[in-house]
Formats: sequence, C-alpha cells, structure tokens
Amino acid sequence: MIITAKNLKKSFEDRELFSEVNIDIPKGKKIAITGRSGSGKTTLLNILGLIETADSGEILIYGSPVGDKSHLIRNESIGFVFQFHHLNPELTVFENLEIPRLIQGKKLLRHEALDFLKSVNLEDKIDSMAKHLSGGQKQRVAFCRALVNHPDLILADEPTGQLDQAQAEVMIQLLLSLPQAVVLVTHDRQFASLMDEKYELINHRLTSW
Ligand SMILES: Nc1ncnc2c1ncn2[C@@H]1O[C@H](COP(=O)(O)OP(=O)(O)O)[C@@H](O)[C@H]1O
Ligand SMILES: [Mg+2]
Repeated sequence: MIITAKNLKKSFEDRELFSEVNIDIPKGKKIAITGRSGSGKTTLLNILGLIETADSGEILIYGSPVGDKSHLIRNESIGFVFQFHHLNPELTVFENLEIPRLIQGKKLLRHEALDFLKSVNLEDKIDSMAKHLSGGQKQRVAFCRALVNHPDLILADEPTGQLDQAQAEVMIQLLLSLPQAVVLVTHDRQFASLMDEKYELINHRLTSW
C-alpha cells in the first residue's frame, strides 16, 4: 500500500469538513474522488499528499507513520497536478521540468525531459517559454513535471478544470496510461467512472460508488 489513511477528520473553526475518512491507495490503482464544490476534496487531497494535516486520524506511507520526514517523502514519492498549472511563465518548459529535480539536489538531463515531453507530444516545445503555450499544453507540461522524480503516486486536483473537452479527455487518458497510482479529484462523473475506484465526499463522509 502506498498510502493508508485511517479515520481522518478535518474541521475549519467549528465547522466539520469531513470525518471517518478511510482510504487505501495501492500501487497502480486509479481512484476518483467526486463531490460538490466546498465538500472538502482539495483539503482531503492535500492531506493525502502531506501538504496539509488532519485534525485527527493517521496517514501511513508504505505502512509507516509519516513523522517529521513528510517533506522528503512528498518530493520523492508524490507528484501533484493542480487545476491551475502553476508553471513559472517566465521559465522555459525545460526549466519548469527541472525544478522538482533541483529541489532534490539533482539534475534533469535534456534527453530525460524530452522523453517526458514525447509522451505528451510536446518535445518541440522544450525551449519555449511556458507563457507562450496554450492552456492544454501548459497542463501537459504540468503533468510531466509531476512525473519528473518518478513518484509512485500522482495526485491530480481538477486537472481538467481549465481545459476544453478535447484537451480534458487527453489529460484523463494520460492519467489512465500511467503505471503510477492516481487519485483524481473531479466533479465530472463521466471521467470519474473511468477510474478503478470511485468515491464521493458527501455529507461529511467519503463514500464509495
Ligand atoms: N485554510 C482554510 N481555512 C478555513 N477554511 C478553509 C480553508 N481551506 C478550505 N476551507 C474551507 O473548507 C471548505 C472545503 O474546501 P475545499 O477542500 O477547497 O473543497 P473542494 O475542493 O471540494 O471545493 C470550503 O468551504 C473552504 O472555504
Ligand atoms: Mg477544490
């Protein structure tokens, strides 16, 4: 199991967002989380991705408590794709892809970057400034950036939210084609239904459907 989450509870002030949330993320599994806006999907994904902490409950990574090494584990084992690509517009595609490697004190080789970019049909954009790409192209670069450190798990928070239907379908197919485990947050139930397991955050609980 990459991640086991047990009995997670999260509130903001005295308003409970969710509780009794249990989820296992095995290697390679494709999991969808749906739910209406404000139901806590982003908060839950950030807790699973060790960006935020729950009020109570437990997160095990490969069976062990996270402890104080969460930032190291996160950079090594988890890749994020956000709704807004969060590329640096003033850097080239290559330079954007390099960032997760530099954080680890390692280098990204040009041929490695090209291999990632080939998988999303963007190898000819390696030296383009990120700001000159279309929305769909930027999101595909963000997808590559999530893979740069060869994580076991990709967390994707509404990665199709800013894309037209055709580009959105490309993104979903890319996620499905990965050997990695994927947790996809989406309010599109059609995309969600393509995943192996489907959950909905509803009435403050995570319920499978
Ligand atoms: N840091 C925070 N402080 C206070 N309230 C927050 C914070 N983060 C999120 N919330 C609230 O929690 C609720 C759920 O947010 P979110 O997880 O973003 O839901 P979703 O992604 O399903 O739309 C929202 O009402 C939001 O305002
Ligand atoms: Mg959200």
